[in-house]
Amino acid sequence: MPSMFDPIKIKNLNIRNRIARSATYEGMGNHRGEPSRHLAQLYNALAEGGVGLIFTSATMIEKFKLELPPDADMPYPTFIHTDEMAEFWKPIVKDVHARGAAIAMQVVHAGRQEAPIVRDGEAPIAPSAVQEKTYGVVPREITLAEIKDMIENFAQAVRRGKSAGFDAAQLHGGHGYLISNFISPYTNRRTDEYGGDTARRARFIVDIVRRAREFVGDYPIMIKMNCDDFIPGGLDKDEAARVANIITKAGIDCIEVTGGIYESREQMSRKGINKEEKEAYLRPYAEALRKAVGVPLILVGGVRSPKVIDRILSDGAADMVSLSRPFIREPHLVNRWKQGDLSKATCISCNQCGENTFTQPMRCYVEEALKAGKDS
Ligand SMILES: Cc1cc2nc3c(=O)[nH]c(=O)nc-3n(C[C@H](O)[C@H](O)[C@H](O)COP(=O)(O)O)c2cc1C
Ligand code: SF4
Repeated sequence: MPSMFDPIKIKNLNIRNRIARSATYEGMGNHRGEPSRHLAQLYNALAEGGVGLIFTSATMIEKFKLELPPDADMPYPTFIHTDEMAEFWKPIVKDVHARGAAIAMQVVHAGRQEAPIVRDGEAPIAPSAVQEKTYGVVPREITLAEIKDMIENFAQAVRRGKSAGFDAAQLHGGHGYLISNFISPYTNRRTDEYGGDTARRARFIVDIVRRAREFVGDYPIMIKMNCDDFIPGGLDKDEAARVANIITKAGIDCIEVTGGIYESREQMSRKGINKEEKEAYLRPYAEALRKAVGVPLILVGGVRSPKVIDRILSDGAADMVSLSRPFIREPHLVNRWKQGDLSKATCISCNQCGENTFTQPMRCYVEEALKAGKDS
């Protein structure tokens, strides 16, 4: 019966415990997309704080159309679109390793949810021209030639991550970004080899994994994927299990189970996790995937207390858990638990951090207000 402090091996990667920091957009890149000193400090704090595996925030595989102006206060993303960008990550990865944690780079293309402003007036791209309701924008259907380029861009990003020393790559296949757009019957209405039945909608991932493997060989390639889009006509639990089956056969080594897209945003980071019964709200979905695939599963979403974590692990619902918001408030949470204070995470799941993701660099607004109160 594994406990949260037991080590785990995923492919050839040894992780010191079963708790991951789920990818969390920090907005700590500069205008060129390089990771900042603040980001390095944050990852050091998480590693020192006992996290087993850190997933970086969603790192962009393609340059924005818009040139970003220098502005230290803007929550810019980080990029991995050139070999040069890998160089900036090397010291960060080294520092995390020196503190005993593993680190994986999450790679993303935002697809139909790319903010119109960064497209410099152009429509975002997506498998099909299905209006994205939160921005009110109709994306342009990506061409077959562009799909091939995009597969190459993802594979190159995985290769660059490996060259920077990252222990694994994680494809962002959830939350309504490009990979998720391909999987979902709601956003993928194509009639060519990248659309149609489940296998054809999963093909984009299969092709990325196969191409990436040519570069990185026996290197862990993980995915964070939706188990449900939580939208009528979208991906559901049963189909997610079929997709998981196809992509693990193609070489995906580990699945982090998530859900929701911008149009069902409240499902991505649920609010009000104030009792045990509300924790780990995607657990039944992980259990459905567990039946379909043999690779390690990571469960994210409302995981807040050691008791719930140990139950997930001992029941075998998942092999690891991951947390996002709790680590914003308490980067040293794992060590707190390890030192015997087993009270649940202090994050109250108000989601102010999530609602301000793209307007301010990542922070806990509750903690900030408390400090301001004490200082005044
Ligand atoms: C501020 C913020 C930024 C996030 N950025 C990402 C991201 O870059 N990539 C990703 O896969 N998920 C991202 N998420 C989603 C979280 O990783 C996680 O799936 C979700 O918040 C549920 O977990 P939690 O209840 O532990 O917060 C973000 C969530 C928040 C609150
Ligand atoms: S603002 Fe703080 S308390 Fe609220 S969800 Fe984010 S991390 Fe948790």
